[in-house]
Amino acid sequence: MIKRIAVLTTGGDAPGMNAAIRAVVRYGIYKKLEVMGVFRGWWGLINEELRLLDHRSVSGIINQGGTILKTARCQEFRTEEGQKRAYEVIKKNCIDALVVIGGDGSFRAAHEFYKKYGVFCIGIPASIDNDINGIEMTIGLDTAINTALSAIDNIRDTATSLERVFVVEVMGRDCGYIALKVALAGGCEEVIIPERRYNLEEICHDIVEGNLRGKISWIIVVAEGAASAQEIAQKINEMTSLETRAVVLGHIQRGGRPTAFSRDLALRLGQIAVDCLLRGEKDKVVGLHDEKIISVDFARAIQKKDLRIEELYHLVKVLS
Ligand code: F6P
Repeated sequence: MIKRIAVLTTGGDAPGMNAAIRAVVRYGIYKKLEVMGVFRGWWGLINEELRLLDHRSVSGIINQGGTILKTARCQEFRTEEGQKRAYEVIKKNCIDALVVIGGDGSFRAAHEFYKKYGVFCIGIPASIDNDINGIEMTIGLDTAINTALSAIDNIRDTATSLERVFVVEVMGRDCGYIALKVALAGGCEEVIIPERRYNLEEICHDIVEGNLRGKISWIIVVAEGAASAQEIAQKINEMTSLETRAVVLGHIQRGGRPTAFSRDLALRLGQIAVDCLLRGEKDKVVGLHDEKIISVDFARAIQKKDLRIEELYHLVKVLS
């Protein structure tokens, strides 16, 4: 029977992680569990940086971005020695199961750990990259999209006033989802994503054609995994002679107050993660699918996600 669980956040922070921690802690306590917080992700487990959390430990965090538990990218946990040490810490502290809040790298690590040591673990997907297979949205994605969108709206003011081309680079690692959603909602003219080949000559041809018809400004969104905004902007400038600027949004997209959607998702997934562990489920990720909360095996969740990007891409182009 599960009596004590531990919760940790790993990988890149995402807005809504704190809401998920709050739900795991408070719902866990409600279900008569002891909940430990592990600080700095897998690194904290290896180095025994953990403590018991109570109801008040998670007060006042629901509206905060980042993670009160801190996070880290930990190479040591990929080693035999690191995993062995983490397992010893789990046994020493009588931890029966883990709730891992993070992205695909975190779940890969959790899955390996389960296979080697049989430690029960449920994953809560929190990352601005929407790259967890089998579920629709990660916690933090909605906030990141809104943050990037607000930046694009600002950039549009300058683009139209100075009649310029802007190339805006957004995060997402190997996933073009943020770029697509932002390009669509921002009314952008073009989007370059890793999942789709692009032809810069064609893009420049469209820009020049549009310019001849009297179109005066462009915003092109580039996903970081596809190309560098600086390089694309420089080439567009050379090929069209139009004044072109590059903007890299970078980590601005990762922080900030979580939106209502990110919080709501985080709170619901936190509750379900605890329920899953109490039912004896393990080695799974919980997430949203067709408006329902489901659980997906880690092995499936870490496969390459099919985002069905063509429809979205087509719509960006038709509406531009
Ligand atoms: O995984 C989230 C993410 O923000 C990616 O979109 C990005 O490629 C990466 O993290 C950046 O990582 P770091 O903050 O370690 O530079």
